[in-house]
Amino acid sequence: MRLFLDTASVDEIRAAAKLGVISGVTTNPSLWAKEGGGDYRDIVLEICGIVDGPISAECLSRDVEGLVEEARRISSWHPNVVVKIPIDEVGLEATSRLSKEGVKVNMTLVFSANQALLAAHAGATYISPFVGRLDDVGHRGMAVVEETMQILECYHLPNQVIAASLRHPLHVIEAAMAGAHIATMPYSVLMGMLRHPLTDVGIERFLADAEKAAKAARARGKR
Ligand code: G3P
Repeated sequence: MRLFLDTASVDEIRAAAKLGVISGVTTNPSLWAKEGGGDYRDIVLEICGIVDGPISAECLSRDVEGLVEEARRISSWHPNVVVKIPIDEVGLEATSRLSKEGVKVNMTLVFSANQALLAAHAGATYISPFVGRLDDVGHRGMAVVEETMQILECYHLPNQVIAASLRHPLHVIEAAMAGAHIATMPYSVLMGMLRHPLTDVGIERFLADAEKAAKAARARGKR
C-alpha cells in the first residue's frame, strides 16, 4: 500500500518528503483554504516539484461541459496532476469522457461500494472512499474500502482505491489489511504512525548505556 499525504501545506509535504515514504499527495478546497488560499495552480505546481508522484487537484465545476474543460485545463498543469471529481451524475459523465481521453481522475466523496463500482466503470484511475466521514455518522467507513477491494479483485478491475479521510494510525493499518492500493493521510497521522514512546525510551537507554560503556572503557584505559 502506497502512502500519500492529504494536505495542501507545502511545509508538511517538504517535511514528509524528506522521510522518503510518501509517493503522492491529495488536496481539496478545504485543505487549500486551511492554508490561507493563494493561487491553486502555483500551490499544485510547487507540490509537483517536491513529490514525484500523483498529485490530486480538485475540480469545482457543476456542469458536465464545465467540468470536462476544467479537468483538461488542470491536468495540463503537470504530467503528475490527477483531477479530483466528486461522484454524482455530472461527475460520472465527465469522468467517463475524460478517462477515454486519457485524463487521470480521482473520483472523490465516495461513501458506498455501489458508488465505487460506478466510478470503476466510468474509468476513474483512482477511487477515494472517505472512511472518517462515515465513521463520524455512525457507519464503519472501512467497510466501504473492504467491499470495494473485494469487488475490484473479483472482476479484475484495474482501478486503484485510495483510502481517504483517514483520521488516525489505526485507519492506516485497517486500510492496508483491507488491501487498499493507497492510503492518503494528514501529516499528523503519518507522524502518529512513526512515533512510539518505547522507541524514544529505547533510544535514550541505548545512548545512556553507550555512554556508560565508553566511560568504563576510558577508566580501564587509564589503569
Ligand atoms: O482525502 C479526503 C480528505 O481530505 C477528507 O478528510 O478529514 O475532511 O474527512 P476529512
